[in-house]
Amino acid sequence: MDYNNLDRNKIIKILNSDISNLDELFQYSESVKADNVTKTTYFRGLIELSNICRKNCLYCGIRADNKSVERYILNNEDVIKCAQYAYNNNFGSVVLQAGENNTPAFTSRITHLIKEIKKLSNGELTITLSLGEQTKEVYKEWADTGAERYLLRIESSSLELYKRLHPNDITHSYNTRIAALKILRDCNYQVGSGVMIGTPFQSIENLADDLLWLKDFDIDMCGMGPFLEHKQTPLYQYHETLHSLEWRRDMTFKMIALLRILMPKINIAATTALQSIDDCAREKALKIGANIIMPNITPLEYLHTYKLYENKPISENKVDGQIISLISRIENSGDKIGFNKPGTSIHYLNKK
Ligand code: 5AD
Ligand code: SF4
Repeated sequence: MDYNNLDRNKIIKILNSDISNLDELFQYSESVKADNVTKTTYFRGLIELSNICRKNCLYCGIRADNKSVERYILNNEDVIKCAQYAYNNNFGSVVLQAGENNTPAFTSRITHLIKEIKKLSNGELTITLSLGEQTKEVYKEWADTGAERYLLRIESSSLELYKRLHPNDITHSYNTRIAALKILRDCNYQVGSGVMIGTPFQSIENLADDLLWLKDFDIDMCGMGPFLEHKQTPLYQYHETLHSLEWRRDMTFKMIALLRILMPKINIAATTALQSIDDCAREKALKIGANIIMPNITPLEYLHTYKLYENKPISENKVDGQIISLISRIENSGDKIGFNKPGTSIHYLNKK
């Protein structure tokens, strides 16, 4: 097949193919990665600041209405320690992630943390934010303070499916989300987005359209991973309709390979959700097109409570040995590690 001219029909055909018949696709996506972003994996130390969230996405374990979650907030000192850990281990970059909180106390605290992280690393650590929908003023303040990247998944590019995955109210509006992504672009961030793969009610056509949407929106980075059901969420009632975990893992591989071909120079993450299905899945994702890995460096005592989904792997946290083993597994699969490098999206740099 000519993978250079992927139209919707071809994408659907590939997504419908059995993974055992897709060696040629994966070899091609691997070569596209090598030719465009080199065989390099960049580390982003993921710091989960707080699991307090004002929203109620129907799939998410830390949604506001889940009263069985113990909520936490990392104090500034702990956040700084995590960032220092990332810096000492030559990660090059950190991600600050939290449930959605738009109070002035929270947003100004983030501004403070961005400053502190830049200070402790002599401006070297690059910062990605994953803090949901905020006003233009807030996005701008964080960018002006030094944050370079922002992740905001569209979750599904289909308005109809988006509505089935979220409550139908103004706090969970598809149009607001698209508008937020546009503002992020206007603020000059490297903009990351992505979708969940294998949610209830999702079709192969939806997934094909997601890929085309990501391309059309011209994202700079992508994080997409398998949907993982959580018992304490409304969508759990549909768990019997879901595809198997292996299906969701394999579909994620196909999506990553196709996106690498469609958008050769963007950054693509091999997500934690993927790892929770299969311990080797992240390395496979890196081989066939992904180039970013986000080891969780949140202090162990909090990791148990940041559960967007169940069975979230927590083993690699802050245990130096675990990071070392991750490094050697990636190197064995053929990539070098971009230590101390920002790993800026080449797609983004080329637009400037
Ligand atoms: N399964 C997989 N991913 C999930 N997320 C939230 N809940 C789940 C789940 N049950 C993802 C969303 C969100 C990101 C932070 O985590 O895509 O954008
Ligand atoms: Fe909050 Fe994000 Fe979970 Fe939605 S997906 S409930 S915004 S943490």
